[in-house]
Amino acid sequence: MSAESAVGLIKVAHLDAADLDAASVVLIRSFATSPDSVSVSLKDVGDFLKGFLSPDNEGAFFTARLTPSDANVLPEGRTYLIVGTAAVSLDGGALDTEAVRLPAGAAVIANMAVNQTHRGLGIARLLLQACEQHALALGLDCVGLAVHKNNAPAQELYLSSGYTKLQDAKPIGLPALLNFGLPGSKHIAMVKRLGGGSHQ
Ligand SMILES: CC(C)(COP(=O)(O)OP(=O)(O)OC[C@H]1O[C@@H](n2cnc3c(N)ncnc32)[C@H](O)[C@@H]1OP(=O)(O)O)[C@@H](O)C(=O)NCCC(=O)NCCS
Repeated sequence: MSAESAVGLIKVAHLDAADLDAASVVLIRSFATSPDSVSVSLKDVGDFLKGFLSPDNEGAFFTARLTPSDANVLPEGRTYLIVGTAAVSLDGGALDTEAVRLPAGAAVIANMAVNQTHRGLGIARLLLQACEQHALALGLDCVGLAVHKNNAPAQELYLSSGYTKLQDAKPIGLPALLNFGLPGSKHIAMVKRLGGGSHQ
C-alpha cells in the first residue's frame, strides 16, 4: 500500500526489526503530545513492538515509510524515514487503556501515530487501511478501537473512514468494548464492520 505525497512516496510496510527504534520514537512522541498524554520508555515500547516480530503473533504492526523527494533529509545510509505507526491486534494487548477483553470475531486497532511534521498527508488513513486489510485477510469482519474523548483529529479520521461511536450505535456483538462508553471513562469505543456489512 503506497501513495505519493507532497514530500515523497509513502509506503506502508510490516515492522522491520531494523526500524524498531525509529517506530518507537514516532509512537512515544506522538502519544506524549496527544490527549492520551502517555509517557513510556523507549525500552518498554521496543519490547512491546518486538512481540509483533514473532511468527506466532497473528496481529501486525505497520510502519509508514517515507522516501523523501529531497534525499538530503535522509540520515546517512538510510533510504526512508519512519513517519507513522499502527497496530492491529487479535488479543487486545495493543490497548494500553482500561482492561478490554477482545470479543470473538473482532480485531483491535491501536498505536495509530504519525510524526508531527508529517501530519495531514493521508498517512494515518493509509495505515488504517492496512490494518483493516490485515483483519479481513484473517477472516475477521469487525474492527474496534478506543479513542480519547478529547481527541478530535483521531475521531475525525475514524468517523470519515466509516467507524461509528459505539454508544451512539446499536451494539454489534462487542459487549466488552462497550465499557469504553461508560461515564467516567476517558475513551470511547469506535467500531467498523468490514466488507460492506451494516451495524444492524
Ligand atoms: C490522529 C493522527 C494519527 C492523524 O494522522 P494524519 O496522518 O495527520 O491523518 P491523515 O492525514 O491521514 O488524515 C485523515 C483524516 O483524519 C482527519 N484529521 C486528521 N487530522 C485532523 C485534524 N487536525 N483535525 C481534524 N481532522 C483531522 C480528517 O478527517 C482527515 O481527512 P481529510 O484530510 O480528508 O480531511 C495524528 O494526528 C496523530 O498521530 N496524533 C497523535 C496520536 C494520536 O492521537 N493517535 C490516535 C490514537 S486513537
